Amino acid sequence: MTRQALLFLFYVVLFLVSSCVESEYKVYNTSQGIVPGKLNVHLVAHTHDDVGWLKTVDQYYVGSNNSIQGACVQNILDSLIPALLADKNRKFIYVEQVVKSLTSPKKCKRKLLAMSALRYSGAATLRKFLSPNAMTVIWCLCDISFQLVIAFFQRWWREQSEAMQQVVRQLVSSGQLEFINGGMSMHDEAVTHYIDMIDQTTLGHRFIKNEFGVTPRIGWQIDPFGHSAVQAYLLGADVGFDSLFFGRIDYQDRTKRKNEKSLEVIWQGSRNFRSSAQIFAGAFPKNYEPPPGGFYFEVNDDSPIVQDDINLFDYNVQDRVNDFVAAAVSQVNRDGYLHGRIFPAWLDVYECNVFIKRSFIKANITRTNHIMWTMGTDFKYQYAHTWFRQMDKLIHYVNMDGRVNALYSTPSIYTDAKYAANEFWPLKIDDFFPYADRANAYWTGYFSSRPALKRYVRMMSGYYLAARQLEFFKGRSNTGPNTDSLADALAIAQHHDAVTGTEKQHVADDYAKRLSIGHMEAEGVVATSLACLADSMSYDGCNRATLKFQQAKDLSS
Ligand SMILES: *[C@@H]1O[C@H](CO)[C@@H](O)[C@H](O)[C@H]1NC(C)=O
Ligand SMILES: *[C@@H]1O[C@H](CO)[C@@H](O)[C@H](O)[C@H]1NC(C)=O
Ligand SMILES: *[C@@H]1O[C@H](CO)[C@@H](O)[C@H](O)[C@H]1NC(C)=O
Ligand SMILES: [Zn+2]
Repeated sequence: MTRQALLFLFYVVLFLVSSCVESEYKVYNTSQGIVPGKLNVHLVAHTHDDVGWLKTVDQYYVGSNNSIQGACVQNILDSLIPALLADKNRKFIYVEQVVKSLTSPKKCKRKLLAMSALRYSGAATLRKFLSPNAMTVIWCLCDISFQLVIAFFQRWWREQSEAMQQVVRQLVSSGQLEFINGGMSMHDEAVTHYIDMIDQTTLGHRFIKNEFGVTPRIGWQIDPFGHSAVQAYLLGADVGFDSLFFGRIDYQDRTKRKNEKSLEVIWQGSRNFRSSAQIFAGAFPKNYEPPPGGFYFEVNDDSPIVQDDINLFDYNVQDRVNDFVAAAVSQVNRDGYLHGRIFPAWLDVYECNVFIKRSFIKANITRTNHIMWTMGTDFKYQYAHTWFRQMDKLIHYVNMDGRVNALYSTPSIYTDAKYAANEFWPLKIDDFFPYADRANAYWTGYFSSRPALKRYVRMMSGYYLAARQLEFFKGRSNTGPNTDSLADALAIAQHHDAVTGTEKQHVADDYAKRLSIGHMEAEGVVATSLACLADSMSYDGCNRATLKFQQAKDLSS
């Protein structure tokens, strides 16, 4: 044997020996579906991304001004895709669409050309109905619409390559990535006008339909501060949703409903339409975060991770499995002697089994043996792997343990399971208003706070309605001024931290600025449309309209 061969042999032996003590590649079995007869814990991975609150919608998207709040939506969407691709059983839901108005550079140039053509050939027309600064504003619009108007999913979407878009389409069609709610924003339900809610929902759904060919099935109003019956029938049942979930109901109502197992109901929001416009609706047992017991897995969160490498210190698989089962079981049982407290750790596996067999055949807060864990909260999943890595392990080890069944799920899967259970559900009519999250903490100030912004939103809403109809008569222009940017600005303004007034001052200013820019452009639409209508008798009236219209100053104020 040559010296080299010996050396080679030595390394091979060294490798074999060392691989015995080193950890090896582990495959986590996350393929588990629903298991009948067991308590099924549906892990719903989600992030709640406000389109403006402490930061503006743009600051949230790009992740600037992190001293205010460490939040970057771009990170979330960027890290999500590889995390989903890594395991086809992983699932995620995305909620906030926000605002299209796709002004690509090319289009923008065309728009500018059209505008200047109008200006120079169409003579004084433009100047008459636009304020002296309006031309500048429209010029600016093309530049700032990147930062101003396009945001969150749609914005991210347009930044992706064809290849990446294809990958995302695949994820959507396989059900790994699901759009729920699907409006531009998660609108408030108290201070919004129903027409604005319909408009912003339509805008979002249309985008999803056009790009992905799907229609959202589930309403997901997890953060608005109380809930309106209009949401149940008009923006729920009539939109075509199969269910509607939310987080914030009065704290006393919640306690009562937990005890009566009536967190989940059939909600008949309309006194007129009753059962013809009803929807399965569920309030969460606590909020839209993971259950108590340490299940937050953002990079900096301090929940214990599942340490399953026996060669390293702090191996804790059994502890974490127990935590998981305890949290699941405590969500189930309201009547047992645990009474809503965490399942005591001193109960060993055997006792647990007996215990569970004896009294936990069915989930008692929610009826049926299905419970949903909302795995995420505000602006989480900025590095999506941290969450999925831990959930992979939890699903794997909890199912090996076998006391409860854990699975990657979505609200759609959960809803289907509830329907399949063929259970009787209590009836709910009327609103979930007002909302108090604890004693003497009524969220009613926002009904009237920031009245100027509320009025502005309402005025713009009316103007948009009129402008859109005039736009229809003349024919919509994709290049010239149109009502898109006003539609977009209004859509974000319905967000539960926008028209409500619960945002910071600089964010309120940002919403007003968007409305103002949209308004300016819509005024252009109104003027040309009126001219066109007035001249419609003449041959080729719309192209050579001679009448000039100008927005009157609002004399009422
Ligand atoms: C994973 O779990 C499922 C359900 O328990 C089982 O049917 C399947 O065989 C498992 N797969 C592997 C690779 O162990
Ligand atoms: C956000 O950051 C920019 C640039 O760092 C700064 O000019 C601006 O004042 C910040 N905005 C707020 C509201 O703090
Ligand atoms: C659920 O509630 C019913 C009625 O209160 C009770 O008989 C049953 O044992 C409970 N099941 C569990 C799992 O606690
Ligand atoms: Zn929110």
